[in-house]
Amino acid sequence: MRAFEAGWGGVVTKTIGLHPVTNVAGPKTKFLRSTLDGQLSMQKKPDTALHSSWNWELISDKPLDWWIPKIAGIKKAYPDRMLIASIMAGSGSDKELAAWQTLAKACQEQGADAFELNLSCPHMDRKDMGSNIGKDQEQVSIVTEVVKEVATVPVWAKLTPSTTDIVEEADAAFRGGADAIVSSNTFPSLPLIDPETLDFEMNVDGLVSSGGLGGPAILPQSLAKMSQLTTAFADKEFSGIGGISTFAHALNYMLLGCGTVQVCTAAMLDRAIGPTVVKNLISGMHEFMEKRGYTSIEEFRGLRRGNVVVHSKIRRPEGKEYHGGHEAEGYAS
Ligand SMILES: Cc1cc2nc3c(=O)[nH]c(=O)nc-3n(C[C@H](O)[C@H](O)[C@H](O)COP(=O)(O)O)c2cc1C
Repeated sequence: MRAFEAGWGGVVTKTIGLHPVTNVAGPKTKFLRSTLDGQLSMQKKPDTALHSSWNWELISDKPLDWWIPKIAGIKKAYPDRMLIASIMAGSGSDKELAAWQTLAKACQEQGADAFELNLSCPHMDRKDMGSNIGKDQEQVSIVTEVVKEVATVPVWAKLTPSTTDIVEEADAAFRGGADAIVSSNTFPSLPLIDPETLDFEMNVDGLVSSGGLGGPAILPQSLAKMSQLTTAFADKEFSGIGGISTFAHALNYMLLGCGTVQVCTAAMLDRAIGPTVVKNLISGMHEFMEKRGYTSIEEFRGLRRGNVVVHSKIRRPEGKEYHGGHEAEGYAS
């Protein structure tokens, strides 16, 4: 509601599921900061800049019954804004596939405008969920198809960046009927070890498990994933997320072909929790468009999509014969 008040167009809920969710004892998210001379730590110090967020939070620990009136209430207050329900269930059994449909039907009955299928959370406590589905092309297709069977609103598939070729999982989602792809969820990672205590900066009883990296550190990596996607599927829809806190960051995704962008870490960090980030994104976009005479995002969306090419297509110094890293002999000029 506060994001909408600040002028934002759409919001994606925290992922909603039907299974019981119990988070770890202790903090679920922390922020890694860098000093000017390159020291990285989660300890709050003056004169540091945000490097990344690190979290091992599961999906929402609130049940569907808690979410139902919230979704209805938000839509009632802001009927003209997009409220997207992020949903997650398991895979591999009819019971779990039915859970996807139960979640979808319940949320759309309350007015949710679209679904985001969470096929991407990297640190689930269950093996049949999250990025474990997202890494299995067959499961990606099946889950998408099952939700599409009951959905009366668009279905977006949020994919994991931790596969070899995200184009293949996107293809599987489109085969299942997905209307759009969202990338990226957080990247699998560990917190750093404190050189004084030799403990992980985040741990429970000294133990740690792989969690997700978000924030500025993942912007270039997430852009690389998005570029692969928008190049492979030029006529499809994409929502870009990963490392955005200013309009200049968001612009990268738009220039690669995204129609929407999303923000997580920056909105969590912002002192007013979100609204300042939202206001800066909106004013940044207006300034950019005014300066260049654009009246619609469509006038610059995808403008740099074609500029990402294979390495051998990059110009070599003038006058040097270049054959794509091969001997010239035997290759057509
Ligand atoms: C604390 C925290 C909780 C998250 N929970 C979810 C979630 O429930 N569902 C989901 O799809 N992504 C979740 N994410 C991933 C974010 O939506 C986003 O994909 C990722 O953080 C990258 O964007 P950012 O750099 O703007 O943070 C979470 C991220 C963080 C930091």
